[in-house]
Amino acid sequence: MKPWLIGAAGAALATAVLAADEAEPPPLPEPLTDAAYRPVDPAAAGLGQLLFYDRLLSGNRDIACATCHHPRHGTSDGLSLGLGAGGLGLGPGRRPDPAAARPPRRQARNAPALWNLGATELTALFHDGRLEVDESRDSGLRGPVADELLQGLPGMLAAQAIFPLLSHDEMAGPPGSNPVADALAEGRITGPDGAIARILARLEALPAYREGFASAFDDIAAGAPIGLVHVTSALAAFIAFEFRSDTSLYDLHLWGAERLEEDARAGKMLFFGSAGCADCHAGPLFTDHGFHAMGQPQIGPGPDAASLGHGRDTGRARISGRAADAYAFRTPPLRNVTVTGPWGHAGAFTDLAAFLRHHADPVAGLAAYRRQARLPPPEDPADWAVMDDPAARAAIAAAVTRPPVALSAADIAALVAFLDSLTDEDALAGRLGIPEAVPSGLPVDR
Ligand code: HEC
Ligand code: HEC
Repeated sequence: MKPWLIGAAGAALATAVLAADEAEPPPLPEPLTDAAYRPVDPAAAGLGQLLFYDRLLSGNRDIACATCHHPRHGTSDGLSLGLGAGGLGLGPGRRPDPAAARPPRRQARNAPALWNLGATELTALFHDGRLEVDESRDSGLRGPVADELLQGLPGMLAAQAIFPLLSHDEMAGPPGSNPVADALAEGRITGPDGAIARILARLEALPAYREGFASAFDDIAAGAPIGLVHVTSALAAFIAFEFRSDTSLYDLHLWGAERLEEDARAGKMLFFGSAGCADCHAGPLFTDHGFHAMGQPQIGPGPDAASLGHGRDTGRARISGRAADAYAFRTPPLRNVTVTGPWGHAGAFTDLAAFLRHHADPVAGLAAYRRQARLPPPEDPADWAVMDDPAARAAIAAAVTRPPVALSAADIAALVAFLDSLTDEDALAGRLGIPEAVPSGLPVDR
């Protein structure tokens, strides 16, 4: 190498070290205030609490939203890939019900946590952003569902609730096991004999729900039937209200009310400074709402197993059709992240420090990846098919464009300490909490 080049590089390095030594703290995001969130109607949120925990919404009355998004597991399920309809139990111990009509299939992706989804800034949901705001459409939304279903909804979060209800694997159950699943299998979604009408009829039949909907919605009080719009609006109101998180130690720190411990402070400097985390985990919600290929290991059946017969998950590219989006996933917001593991869109890491070592250098991390996952039984060799296929692994690595960041073991520990300061005990304890009972009388996951 030419000596003057060494000199130039050396000078640049010295400046960088100097800057770090001067310890000028990098600018921090603004704290979250009420203005960041949509207003929530308390009556709708209260009704949504019951719906969120009520298995009545599932075809075989065996699973609720809360089964996969439980406050005990940071509003996720404690599993790498969860089990939907036909499973038994909650959290890491969840397993197939031996009496189920068909053994349940693993979910294709890790159940995301539901923190701060009532924030107005969000423009997309799901790991691949397949439900998104699109002002050019009448409904204001775009997603893989008939536009007719999206009409009249109050927003993206309400629209999201339609998906698990109409999925055989998540809540509806296998064809042949109940009338909701049968209608779905026959392509009858809307209409008087459709899957949705069959779910709504169950709610109409219970006086407690009829009254709950009437007190939350004026048109129902005036005699209108319970509609999908009401159910999904109530669920969205509950999620926005219950899972708002802006009172972690970090949040108090932003307000100047709390100091972070020394290791968390060091982690904060890295996060917003030299480690570059805030390039993507940006702003008050820790997300740029963008999609990035981070070389995450792919495990499990993948979203295209049934239709295309392979386990690969190309993420955003499946939605956009753009090669540049291959293996890119949405930047997740990070509040309460230390309690929402396993981590990654397929839950391929059960250890947060190991996740971060991979994340800082995804290509090397993928090459060094050793199996770690929390999967419900039975073992399935297909779970590791992509990781066992050198060409598939190489494709995931080839999509990474972000240069690696060198982080020492101490840096990783400091980042974990900083992420821990995002744990919000008040939000985890819940506002409305887990209901004692639900109108259907079915068991509540607790
Ligand atoms: C079988 C487990 C399961 C059940 C039951 C379930 N979900 Fe989910 N949920 C998931 C998974 C997995 C994803 C991510 C799917 C993806 O990105 O492709 C998800 C995604 C979401 C998201 C998007 C979060 C984000 O940040 O992108 C919301 C909101 C949500 N679910 C709410 C609900 C509601 C409301 C219900 C009940 C009507 C429900 N879920 C039932 C597993 C489940
Ligand atoms: C280039 C954008 C980018 C940068 C830089 C980045 N991240 Fe991420 N981060 C992502 C994306 C995208 C995901 C989701 C990846 C996936 O699941 O495939 C993610 C996931 C995570 C998760 C797991 C969240 C979960 O719920 O599973 C954590 C924790 C995390 N990042 C922390 C960090 C830290 C700490 C840094 C800095 C060392 C960092 N990130 C740098 C984009 C980025």
